[in-house]
Amino acid sequence: MPAPPADARSTSGTAVSVTACGDDGAILKVRTEGRMPPLRAGRFFMLRREDRLSPAIPRPFSVYRQNGRDLEFLIKVMGPGTRALADCTPGTTLRVIGPLGNGWPALDGDGPPWVMLGGGIGSAPFPMAIEQALKGMDGRKPAPREKLVYLYGAARKGLLYDLEAFQSLGVRVATCTDDGSFGFRGNVLQLLQHLQSKKEIPESVRLLACGPERMLEAVEAHARSRGLEAWLSLETVMGCGVGICNGCPVTTRPEGPRGSWPNAKCCVEGPIFSTAEIALAPSS
Ligand SMILES: Cc1cc2nc3c(=O)[nH]c(=O)nc-3n(C[C@H](O)[C@H](O)[C@H](O)COP(=O)(O)OP(=O)(O)OC[C@H]3O[C@@H](n4cnc5c(N)ncnc54)[C@H](O)[C@@H]3O)c2cc1C
Ligand code: FES
Repeated sequence: MPAPPADARSTSGTAVSVTACGDDGAILKVRTEGRMPPLRAGRFFMLRREDRLSPAIPRPFSVYRQNGRDLEFLIKVMGPGTRALADCTPGTTLRVIGPLGNGWPALDGDGPPWVMLGGGIGSAPFPMAIEQALKGMDGRKPAPREKLVYLYGAARKGLLYDLEAFQSLGVRVATCTDDGSFGFRGNVLQLLQHLQSKKEIPESVRLLACGPERMLEAVEAHARSRGLEAWLSLETVMGCGVGICNGCPVTTRPEGPRGSWPNAKCCVEGPIFSTAEIALAPSS
């Protein structure tokens, strides 16, 4: 049975700062207890306040940035769990469970370029991915800047969270909004196809995506129809986060590398899956 990662711990943390971000978001910096080794981009933590202002069940959040034992989380307020975290003040004590999940694959410098597609708050797992790709992951060759592209989309400008931070990472960043209030008018896949039609991005790319479910379904269908490799970071609703409650099933592909078992647990087998492994859209 898949188990939580060996390095996962339930520890206490203290809010260091909370900075408003975009129309409905915040960047929460948490100082964790004890040592925190460097984390792979795309892993996540379950968070809740210890003062009863959070719901009883902690909520999952990708690591946005790490500086030693200081972890930053980019949080979009959705309901009581995210509201309580965005309302933390310096000194608020938190329960911090993690690191959990697998993280992105090694973004190496060989092969086709990596195109990262972030939709709204789905941008959270990408800054560290870009930094780690530029440094080289798992002993592999670093990815040169020109092989990394970040396409950042949202419904409107105010939901392109912390855009300046992405623009300072040193790779190409292109933006789009559904309402045309900033950047290209359209979604991230339309932006990708637009840039490909202008020969600014080649047809053969490897895709990483995180965002709303419908966006991920579209990326899955796009990758499958073109025979592209793609990895999706799923934001499935979670209960325990550690493989016990069966609350986070993801449908697997019988012909994929996971075989005939119909579900994977997003928390302990993901949250990042290749499109060869899973089927988000019913027809895929
Ligand atoms: C691995 C992982 C990483 C995540 N990383 C981040 C992150 O970095 N930043 C961030 O802001 N959020 C992230 N999320 C989503 C976040 O966990 C949820 O938004 C949060 O749990 C909502 O809790 P709540 O109590 O505020 O809202 P709830 O009361 O639980 O929900 C409020 C409303 O939002 C809907 N909702 C809840 N969860 C989701 C979801 N996952 N997707 C779409 N709709 C949802 C509910 O159906 C409901 O309508 C991540 C989720 C996962 C699984
Ligand atoms: S959230 Fe409980 S098993 Fe995944």
